[in-house]
Amino acid sequence: MAEDSTHVKLDQELKAAAAELGSAVDAFTSNHDDASRKDIVRAAEMVLASARDPNTMWMDDALEMSRLGATHLFQVWGGFGHIPDQGAISFAELAQKLDAETSLIGELSSLPLSLSLSLSLSLSLSFFLSHSILMYLSERIVGVLTSQGTLQAVGADRIAHTPISRTLTPANQLSTLYQLVWDNNMVNFFHLEEYFAKYGRREPQLMNHIPATFARGCPERRFFEYLADDPAYLQRFTTGMNLIEKSRSPASGIYDFSWLVDKAAQEPPERAVFVDVGGGSGQAILAIHQEYPQLPIARFVLQDRRETIDAVVAEDNPLLQKVQKLATDFFHDQPVKGTLCLCTKFFFFFF
Ligand SMILES: C[S@@+](CC[C@H](N)C(=O)[O-])C[C@H]1O[C@@H](n2cnc3c(N)ncnc32)[C@H](O)[C@@H]1O
Repeated sequence: MAEDSTHVKLDQELKAAAAELGSAVDAFTSNHDDASRKDIVRAAEMVLASARDPNTMWMDDALEMSRLGATHLFQVWGGFGHIPDQGAISFAELAQKLDAETSLIGELSSLPLSLSLSLSLSLSLSFFLSHSILMYLSERIVGVLTSQGTLQAVGADRIAHTPISRTLTPANQLSTLYQLVWDNNMVNFFHLEEYFAKYGRREPQLMNHIPATFARGCPERRFFEYLADDPAYLQRFTTGMNLIEKSRSPASGIYDFSWLVDKAAQEPPERAVFVDVGGGSGQAILAIHQEYPQLPIARFVLQDRRETIDAVVAEDNPLLQKVQKLATDFFHDQPVKGTLCLCTKFFFFFF
């Protein structure tokens, strides 16, 4: 009886989610807009959430971890950049370019499935186990990536790009974001257990002794102190944050700033109109000013860490020329007094 009602509930959830998916696909195929695309993904995730067997979720987790691990490794080795824009590359050629054993990159397994599986486990490469072994009997890094759709398998021993893998090539700016997400999350997650064992199960109390610096073996440092001494990470961080600001972090179309236009006109011209604390490369200021061009741009103030402000000045974006740029530390007093609007967007999560 209980089982029947569980089935009824599951059937209902599945049908509702599938219907929503169908509608989202219909909407997308007539609009091809971003919102309908997101609706499809959301609806498909609902279908999956209902359809997945809770007893095998651990396997789904293992596959996802394999995908993340293999993607990261292949990316930092430079693998994605060696795949030709058109056509395919063989495992052997790729292995040669990466100075790696061909079998580590990928090869068609002649071993029986069970042996292949246990061999992989015994080699402690279990995190690379994936559908590849089950579906194609191919193994290792590209096996994970082809089986999960990041790369396309061509024949038995070659691979080609997919739209996803193209975003992971060094020539594509988005590739920085994959690495940055790894830096900012995975590296820290891996050490959280030790971190909380040492400091107790509570929020970090200071600006140092935080998970990010603990994970990197220097808990006594603050995050940005560490970052300043790791040029490669700093570069990824700066480039990545700029990209996020430009593409994924909207600042306009959210608040009605028409009151600010009126207020700015009434106040003395030396009074700051808009101070963006931790404003990065000034994208929020630009977006808001583009939406309200009547706001006096010279009374906008962009504040950030010294390194960020120096980079903004060096970039010399003509649109930001009149914006005041000030190196500050938001843990100290706000140096600009009496601004009409103080913006703090998308940075509190750092501490
Ligand atoms: C995630 S980014 C957000 C950038 C921008 N506000 C946005 O919404 O896209 C966080 C920003 O805070 C800045 N930041 C971090 N610590 C800071 C500090 N102590 N003082 C000033 N800015 C800081 C970083 O340099 C970075 O530009």
